[in-house]
Amino acid sequence: MAPLACVLYLSIENESFNETSLHQLVYKAQEENKNHGVTGFLYYKQNHFFQYVEGNQLDVNNLLNSLKKDTRHKILECIYDDQLHARRFPNWNMGDLKTNQLMQIKFEDLIIENLLYRKVRNNSPIAIENHNLWKLIDNLAFFQNSDLQ
Ligand SMILES: Cc1cc2nc3c(=O)[nH]c(=O)nc-3n(C[C@H](O)[C@H](O)[C@H](O)COP(=O)(O)O)c2cc1C
Repeated sequence: MAPLACVLYLSIENESFNETSLHQLVYKAQEENKNHGVTGFLYYKQNHFFQYVEGNQLDVNNLLNSLKKDTRHKILECIYDDQLHARRFPNWNMGDLKTNQLMQIKFEDLIIENLLYRKVRNNSPIAIENHNLWKLIDNLAFFQNSDLQ
């Protein structure tokens, strides 16, 4: 089996997204991800994107390169893991997460503020470590078969 990899990033939009353009972005991403066996989720709030992507290493690398070149946003903080043993979100070609869903598990503020904080404070020791960040993503994955989506 080809090795799995995943990436988690926070980016800021370079152009203003609205409901329609966001919907188009997610729709296209879901189609493409289906073709490449990529799974994960995308979350948008206050001009920022927060995305988790997983799949075969090559597919994840290719997508990450495309995401870095995509002028519609700018990646601020990115954490890459090429030691993924099993997919966290096998059922989501790109889950379009909504705020109220994340609020339910008090996930959103913690993770997004943390990624922003790391950026601003340049990896401050107060910032939670990468493995704790991945644990949060695992917690979110735990909810994927409930009423999150
Ligand atoms: C916030 C954001 C998230 C995106 N997510 C995906 C995605 O999950 N899958 C995907 O194929 N393209 C996604 N895209 C689009 C890619 O950046 C890129 O436009 C697309 O993969 C085509 O890349 P290419 O021109 O290098 O072939 C996303 C773009 C943005 C701005």
